[in-house]
Amino acid sequence: MAATPRPLIAGNWKMNGLKSAGLREVKKLATRMDKVSKPGCDVLICPPATLLAPLRDAVKGSGIAIGGQDCHGNAAGAHTGDIAAAMLKDIGCGYVIVGHSERRADYGENDRMVRAKAVAAHGAGLRAIICVGETAAERKNGETLKIIGKQLTDSLPKNSTAKNTIIAYEPVWAIGTGLTPTVDDVKEVHAYLRSRLRRRLKADGVAMRLLYGGSVKGSNAAELMAVDNVNGALVGGASLTAADFWPIVETCL
Ligand code: 13P
Repeated sequence: MAATPRPLIAGNWKMNGLKSAGLREVKKLATRMDKVSKPGCDVLICPPATLLAPLRDAVKGSGIAIGGQDCHGNAAGAHTGDIAAAMLKDIGCGYVIVGHSERRADYGENDRMVRAKAVAAHGAGLRAIICVGETAAERKNGETLKIIGKQLTDSLPKNSTAKNTIIAYEPVWAIGTGLTPTVDDVKEVHAYLRSRLRRRLKADGVAMRLLYGGSVKGSNAAELMAVDNVNGALVGGASLTAADFWPIVETCL
């Protein structure tokens, strides 16, 4: 039997965090991580690009990884304001989030563009965290699995492996709202993702990490992390302070 994927607890700070507060919080996290001799999960912070370098230095030696929130689908070139995957790698990132629903909504990113970003991430030696998730209207119409299945098929690059790719299921309606799907709903979607991944990628599909994201907090993390095929969390609001994030990390330590 294949080993259970090692959990990943990832914080997505989105467009939040100035240097002093960001450094303070991440140092508190690093201090707590230092006290854990053999962590049972990986811990990642994806701060705004401006904080990548200072946070990288602040977490050095703690085992906490640093990642980007997005990258361009091209390796380099005339794309004002964008960041290339190789630049993230160069500054010390191990991961990059691609296809977050906020980017899909704000910038019209479609599955083809998300796949190009994931390919670029792989090319630079980064792990891509590919986000999928249905809107409230799609769930109401009973289209959840159909939408997620299509996003997965079309966003996942051909060369994806359990090492270079992580899937995050983030229902759009659960992000920043305090609402979460029921445990049974999360179980259904993650089982569906797992079966599709297994069919497409065989052993890699079984070993690939599947994160849940959307209003994860200290009070609901244990219940969500215990769901079959949930191998960690992608956390927004509750990742901004060590006090809020640590209880979520602790559920997987
Ligand atoms: P919240 O945890 O704030 O709901 O955000 C989730 C998210 O979008 C993480 O990428």
